[in-house]
Amino acid sequence: SQDPLVIFTPSGKRGRFPVGTPVLSAARQLGVDLDSVCGGRGICSKCQITPAYGEFPKHGVHVAEDALSAWNAVEQRYDDKRGLKPGRRLGCQATVQGDVVIDVPPESQVHRQVVRKAASTRAVAMDPATRLCLVDVEEPDMHSPTGDLERLERALKEQWDIDAVEADLSLLSKLQKVLRKGGWQVTVALHRDHRGGSARILDLWPGLHEGGLFGLAIDLGSTTIAAHLTDLETGAVIASAGLMNPQIRFGEDLMSRVSYAMMNPGGAAEMTAAVRAALNDLAGDLATQAKIAPELIVETVFVCNPVMHHLLLGVDPVELGQAPFALATAEALHLGAAALDLTAINPRARVYILPCIAGHVGADAAAVALAEEPQNSDDLVLIVDVGTNAELLLGNRSRVLACSSPTGPAFEGAQISAGQRAAPGAIERVEIDPVSKEPRFRVIGCDLWSNEDGFAEATAATGITGICGSGIIEAVAEMRMAGLLDASGLIGSAEQTGSPRSLPEGRTHAYLLHDASAEGGPRITVTQGDIRAIQLAKSALYAGARLLMDEMGVERVDRIVLAGAFGAHISTRHAMVLGMIPDAPLEKVTSAGNAAGTGARIALCNIAARAEIERVVRQITKVETAIAPKFQEHFVAANAIPHFSDPFPELAR
Ligand code: FES
Repeated sequence: SQDPLVIFTPSGKRGRFPVGTPVLSAARQLGVDLDSVCGGRGICSKCQITPAYGEFPKHGVHVAEDALSAWNAVEQRYDDKRGLKPGRRLGCQATVQGDVVIDVPPESQVHRQVVRKAASTRAVAMDPATRLCLVDVEEPDMHSPTGDLERLERALKEQWDIDAVEADLSLLSKLQKVLRKGGWQVTVALHRDHRGGSARILDLWPGLHEGGLFGLAIDLGSTTIAAHLTDLETGAVIASAGLMNPQIRFGEDLMSRVSYAMMNPGGAAEMTAAVRAALNDLAGDLATQAKIAPELIVETVFVCNPVMHHLLLGVDPVELGQAPFALATAEALHLGAAALDLTAINPRARVYILPCIAGHVGADAAAVALAEEPQNSDDLVLIVDVGTNAELLLGNRSRVLACSSPTGPAFEGAQISAGQRAAPGAIERVEIDPVSKEPRFRVIGCDLWSNEDGFAEATAATGITGICGSGIIEAVAEMRMAGLLDASGLIGSAEQTGSPRSLPEGRTHAYLLHDASAEGGPRITVTQGDIRAIQLAKSALYAGARLLMDEMGVERVDRIVLAGAFGAHISTRHAMVLGMIPDAPLEKVTSAGNAAGTGARIALCNIAARAEIERVVRQITKVETAIAPKFQEHFVAANAIPHFSDPFPELAR
């Protein structure tokens, strides 16, 4: 008679196996995704499965009650000590006795689908570069003397099929103690190299380590640094934090930081030290917030523009300040945390920095491509990542172009009179009634006094501290729509606009959004200077988009994705009223949140994504805005709101 048939769900993978085959090894042979940290020793419980009994006409099998072996002593001991959920078995202990249908629950799948890419339906599977392996190491023997590390390496080869292994000197100093404390059984955090180099032992713990492993995905922007602490087993973000890039004191935008480095001996090193210190603060805060030991953070992925990239690495960015804008290296980087002075995480943690596309188009643009996949799009998509330096990608399956555009920090709330980072107290959304010209807001972290739609009348608002990037974009667009602002960007007087909120300010006017000065609170206005800063920023963004469209030889794009590092999503309608982006049907404009940050998380959670982006980046064509004469022309024409000459038929609909 035939061997029993084993069918796994949800994968549907099936095969015949001799009676007595452990379920875990049947899964391995069929390529079914079933986890194991202890390698089948019955102690990690990662291999849990749920057998199903009865008739399965769809699969043509009948599963008898004794299709799997009865509980053995190991499984019984696990259940007594830890308890298995009803119906669950340990896949490494239960063996096949007859035809059986076996369900692998999501938490037992190594490659759980977690990071969902914004624009596509493709989810990213968990397959981080570092994972845990439990090993039994042979005890030392005077008669055949070998070192503890050599015996650990041999055990990894035999029990996990890991060939070449490297270990830092700092690991050696704890190895002997941990091996003895664990009674020759240890859990190893093993880092794999997707380029095929040696695996590396990052850390080890006595016995079975159940504290998990964590990684940081960091979007290192010129104005804001955003970091997500991620569980490397589940992919869940367990804590997030952001802070202002302390390099701002050396210059608000990239070029002023490059000039600082040029003019001041030791200036680049000063900026490097400042950002590294901030990264350590951020990592420390996140570990505290999540209540985990800092040494459990074993991976860090960075996305950043080329100037931030060089300053993080300690490379003087002077070459990026002048044509031909040569990078020290455009390749993806694999480093140890110590090389970047990251002392607030595991000292042996690995750092991965995504590749740069070219001199002005960095790893942040690569991360956006990883998250939004223009290279896999059938229609022509324009992706705009709004920040102090905007990254733009235009393309489809056949060709992808990229450029960056120096928008300045206005879109992140900097250079704005009442501007602030997207944090509690910041006005993030604005509505202005076109008749009464009275504003309503939505404020981050203040929902006490909000209406059903989350908006509140200006008079009711309390706890407001300023306005963030998405707020100022909406405020300017709403002012234009309410007739408080003309197409050239000039704020009208109270007489012209019919609103007492139009206040004289020197020779110009300002619009009063919120006044709590009577209670000692802030007085928040949108000044003529704010409007000019937004106009400059949006013209630079629009000019970059037009330059890519010229290069591609198109007048229109099929769809637009707006991304940005700010907390809130950018309102697509307001972005179009402002003329930040070219005209397109509004339903074809989507907001993707922080796409660069999503790209960083994907690279953190999936090792294959690193190889993928390294390949994709080589195929992206870079367009240089700094030297294109057309850029200036597009820039000037884009100064009006929404635009001096380009039609916006979709807006008129
Ligand atoms: Fe660890 Fe089964 S593989 S308990």
